[in-house]
Formats: sequence, structure tokens, C-alpha cells
Amino acid sequence: MNRIKWICAAVVVTAFIPAYCYAWPWSWDMFDQPSVKAQESKALAVPKGSVPAESEPFVKDRVQAGKLRNPSVADVASIERGKYKFNIHCATCHGEGGKGDGLVGQKYVTPTDLTGDYVQAKPDGDIYFTIKNGGLAIMPSYGDAVTPADRWHIVNYIKHAFGKKGGAK
Ligand code: HEC
Repeated sequence: MNRIKWICAAVVVTAFIPAYCYAWPWSWDMFDQPSVKAQESKALAVPKGSVPAESEPFVKDRVQAGKLRNPSVADVASIERGKYKFNIHCATCHGEGGKGDGLVGQKYVTPTDLTGDYVQAKPDGDIYFTIKNGGLAIMPSYGDAVTPADRWHIVNYIKHAFGKKGGAK
């Protein structure tokens, strides 16, 4: 009786070994199907409204960012757009006038005064870098929320509305 049990066990085990090795033809049934597999089809057309990643210059650090050329002329449209985005994303902490007295800023670590010489003397690319990657200590990054073009508009707004540069060119 015992021997029969062992033989049955051996038959069952041997029958399952090919399954573990994917040797049964049906092991591949789900794989061999007419669906398109990864890397098989041509790249799809880019959907309307997509933001191309390559439109953004690659910058290693703040020093390199400082050498970036601001592609946006600080005209009325750019400054207005910058103001609109600044009031949405930055004013909560920095205050509408950029002094660092926004409602969140009052409870948070005091934000840098954007009207002062320290920020006003910074190259445009340095401020662009701050918007994208965050501040020196705890200011969060706004790279996900603000597109590259809008970052330059915000820089124009900070320089022209808060600084000594005056209004639009
Ligand atoms: C959650 C609050 C908060 C928001 C929102 C915020 N900031 Fe700041 N920001 C700070 C604080 C705090 C500092 C100072 C500490 C630091 O640098 O991390 C700072 C520093 C800065 C500096 C100076 C960085 C340096 O080089 O020393 C700039 C420029 C700046 N912010 C611009 C912006 C702009 C533009 C926006 C909107 C896109 C913005 N901040 C949104 C809190 C904030």
C-alpha cells in the first residue's frame, strides 16, 4: 500500500516539473497572443497640449542656472502672466508685494524678501532655478506646478514689479 502511495506521489511530482520549467505548451498561451508588446509598435503621436520635456534646459546646479539666458522679453504680457502665476503659487508665502509677509509665510519660516537687493541682484536663471527646484533651505519646489515658460514670466514680474527695473520694456 505504501509503495502505491509513493508511486502516485512520484507521478504527480514528475507531471508538475515541466510546468515549473514552462515546458507545457499552454504555459505560453497568454504570452503568444496578437496584442502589441512593449517596444513593438511605432511611437504614438504626442497628444495635443503635452508639455515637451526637452523644452527645458538641463541645468546641473544653481551656478550653471545663473548663466541661463531669460528667453522671455519683459513686456506687458509677460509681466502680467508672471503676476497671475505669482499670485497663485508664491504670494501665499512671499506676500502679494513680495515682502515675505504672505499668510502662510507668517506662520512658516519667514520667506526671503523678493524686493530686497539680495534677490534683485540675482541672475534671472538663479530665480528660475529656485522656482523649479526650491529654495536654499525649505522652500518647496514648484517645478511640477509652473511650466518653464511661466517660470521666466514670474522672474520678469519679480524683477520689474518688485525691483528697481520698473515696468515693462
Ligand atoms: C511655502 C512657502 C513658500 C512658497 C509658496 C514660495 N516660497 Fe519662495 N521661499 C520661501 C522660504 C521660506 C524661503 C527662504 C528659505 C529658502 O530659501 O528655502 C524662500 C526663498 C525664496 C527665494 C530666495 C532663494 C535664494 O536664492 O536664497 C526666491 C527667489 C523665492 N523664494 C521665490 C519664490 C517664487 C518665485 C515662488 C513661487 C513660484 C515661491 N518662492 C514660493 C517660502 C516659499
